[in-house]
Amino acid sequence: MDFSGKVALVTGGGNGIGRAACVGFARHGAKVVAVDRDGAAAEATAGIVRQNGGEALAVTADVTKSAEVKAYVKAALDKYGRIDCFFNNAGIEGKVAPVAEYDEAMFDAVIGVNVKGVFLGLRHVLPEMIRQGGGTVVNTASVAGLVGTPGMPAYVASKHAVIGLTKTAAGEVARQGIRINAVCPGPVDTRMIHALEQQLSPDDPAAVGKRYQAALPTGRYSTVEEIANMVLFLCSDLASNTTGGQFVVDGGRTSTGGAVTSLATR
Ligand SMILES: NC(=O)c1ccc[n+]([C@@H]2O[C@H](COP(=O)([O-])OP(=O)(O)OC[C@H]3O[C@@H](n4cnc5c(N)ncnc54)[C@H](O)[C@@H]3O)[C@@H](O)[C@H]2O)c1
Repeated sequence: MDFSGKVALVTGGGNGIGRAACVGFARHGAKVVAVDRDGAAAEATAGIVRQNGGEALAVTADVTKSAEVKAYVKAALDKYGRIDCFFNNAGIEGKVAPVAEYDEAMFDAVIGVNVKGVFLGLRHVLPEMIRQGGGTVVNTASVAGLVGTPGMPAYVASKHAVIGLTKTAAGEVARQGIRINAVCPGPVDTRMIHALEQQLSPDDPAAVGKRYQAALPTGRYSTVEEIANMVLFLCSDLASNTTGGQFVVDGGRTSTGGAVTSLATR
């Protein structure tokens, strides 16, 4: 995989999977734009990339705000002149609660980041890629975009929507040299999964983590690098005729077809 001379823009680049993708893109030669609503976290990611000898720009932006999405696209173009790879990744987990009790404002918040944020990213990056004559996009869905998870209605709905957006947009721009795929991580060792463990068992989150990992075929959460590797592959020329697809990295979770313990099952 060679991204020399290419520019990779990553939302949610300040932490977790996004940060690992920034570091991975830079290691393979790309200039990186780390976008996050947490500006200090985005700066920290850019700092890590620079320490490793790469080039990076940090941009503070909330992906749910159209003006801020336009601004992160402009910042990338002003600094590096193009966007070759777009990892449309920022997301939030929301609260664990059944549909019958789910808070309406929380539902809007999850859909706002995970669906509207992904839409706005596509809305404002794709015109630039069309102008350039090509590019690659990976949207972060989840195994929650493929199967239900009792207790996470907003998150599951949002990630199913990301897959729908991915398929639709991919078909629209394929003839213009733009490929769009979705990555579907299972549980990954980041703040997000530990926050969910905490919600499920405030007194003993580690026990939830242990049980959940034991129920996975591989027996452990994915690392952020294992997700980033799939993202890099999909953005690379090795995947040159791959578009509109969903790529699972989940330690075998979905392969067991529901035999795995649900996150919300105590
Ligand atoms: N960790 C998992 O188990 C897991 C599993 C499947 C999918 N995912 C998805 O992976 C993506 C990354 O999650 P992560 O695990 O790295 O979580 P994380 O919380 O470590 O990182 C998410 C980053 O996104 C940023 N962010 C959140 N809302 C934003 C907004 N409105 N605008 C700009 N930035 C915003 C946060 O500040 C944070 O830096 C998310 O879309 C998540 O749904 C995670």
